[in-house]
Amino acid sequence: MNQPHGGTLINRVNLQYDYSSILTEIEIDRFALSDLELIAIGAYSPIIGFLGENDYYAVMNQMRLTDGHIWAIPITLPVPEYVADSLKIGDKIKLVYKGKVYGILELQEKYFSDKRFEAEQVYGTTDDKHPGVKKLLERPDMYLAGPITLVRRPEKDEFGDYYLDPAETRAAFAEQGWRTIVGFQTRNPVHRAHEYIQKSALEIVDGLFLNPLVGETKGDDIPAHIRMESYEVLLKEYYPAERVLLAVFPAAMRYAGPREAVFHALVRKNYGCTHFIVGRDHAGVGNYYGTYDAQLIFRNFTAEELGITPLFFEHSFYCKKCGNMASTKTCPHAPEEHLVLSGTKVREMLRGGEAPPPEFSRAEVAEVLIRGMTMAADKQ
Ligand code: ADX
Repeated sequence: MNQPHGGTLINRVNLQYDYSSILTEIEIDRFALSDLELIAIGAYSPIIGFLGENDYYAVMNQMRLTDGHIWAIPITLPVPEYVADSLKIGDKIKLVYKGKVYGILELQEKYFSDKRFEAEQVYGTTDDKHPGVKKLLERPDMYLAGPITLVRRPEKDEFGDYYLDPAETRAAFAEQGWRTIVGFQTRNPVHRAHEYIQKSALEIVDGLFLNPLVGETKGDDIPAHIRMESYEVLLKEYYPAERVLLAVFPAAMRYAGPREAVFHALVRKNYGCTHFIVGRDHAGVGNYYGTYDAQLIFRNFTAEELGITPLFFEHSFYCKKCGNMASTKTCPHAPEEHLVLSGTKVREMLRGGEAPPPEFSRAEVAEVLIRGMTMAADKQ
C-alpha cells in the first residue's frame, strides 16, 4: 500500500472531545468546514491544522511546507480582523458552522493574509473574475493557525455511503487485493473522454478510484447529485464492479489549475492511490492556464518526494475517421474529424432537453443529465 504523504496518516478526529469548558467560539464558512474535516481524516496529511505564516509563505513561494514536504495550496482559516483581535494566542477555540460545533482550534498564530500575492502565486492571476480568486478575495483577511481536532462529523447529505475516509479507502483497496490504484478527480459529469482516459489508465493498474469533488463549486458547474447519478449509471452499465471504487471528495474546488493538480494528486496519495490522472487543463477554468500546464508543473518534483505517479493524458475525443476514442497523441486526423463540444455547449444542450451524440456521452448518462438539468431549471 502506498505510504501517505509524510509517512503517517493523520487522524485528528475525536468525537468524544469534551469541549464544555471552552467558551471562545468563532463562526467558520462551508469552505473552512470542509478543510477542517479533510485535515482531521488525514486527506491533507502531513498537515495537522490550518497553516501558520511560515508555512503559508513556503507553500506560496516554494510549493513546500517548511518541513520540506511538497504542498501546493495554502490551507488557511480566514476571519475578520475584529474577530482575530478578540482571540488570544494559546486559546482553544470552538469552530462553529450554522450553530453547531465541529472543531477545536488550538490558536498558535494569527496573521494578515497577502491576498494579492496568494492570488498571483497560487492562481497565477489577480483577476477577480477567476472563481478561485473571487472566493479568495471574498473571504476575510486575517488567518488563524494551529492544530485542529474534529469533534463532530459534518452531516453526510445525499451521498451517504459514498463518504469514505482515507483509512477506509485504503482498507477497501487492500480488501480488493489491488496493489496499484489510479485516482481520478472530477467536478464534471462523466463523458466519453473521461471514460476513455480512466479505462486507458485502468489497463495498466489494478483498480480505479473515482473521486468526484462534491464540495463548493462555482454556480454554473453541474450540481454534485446529478453528477453522482451519472457516475452510478455509467458504472453499472460499462465498468467491471470489481475494478472500481466510487467515493466523493468533499473538498471545495479552487480552480487553481496546475497547483490544484499537485494538491489533488497528493490528497489521492493519502487516500491510498499509487497513480493519478492529469488530463488536459486539469482544474482549469476559462483561459487562465495553458492546456498542459497542470502536467508540466510535476517536473518541479522528483518521483520519490511526490510518492504518487501522475499519468498524463492529452486532449481526448471521438474521431470519426479512427472510428473510436483517441487523443491528440494517438490520432493523426484533422480537427474536423474530431467530435469536440465545449462544456458550455453541452450544458446548453442538456438544459434544452437535447442529448449530446453517443460518441460524446453515453445515452444512459445523457438521460440522467437531461432529467437533472431540466429539474434544476424548473426549480429556478
Ligand atoms: S477538473 O476541474 O476536476 O479537473 P474535469 O472534471 O473536467 O475537471 O476533469 C477531470 C479530469 O479529466 C482532469 O484530469 C482533466 O484534465 C481530464 N479531462 C477532462 N476532459 C478531458 C479530455 N477531453 N481529454 C483529456 N483529459 C480530459
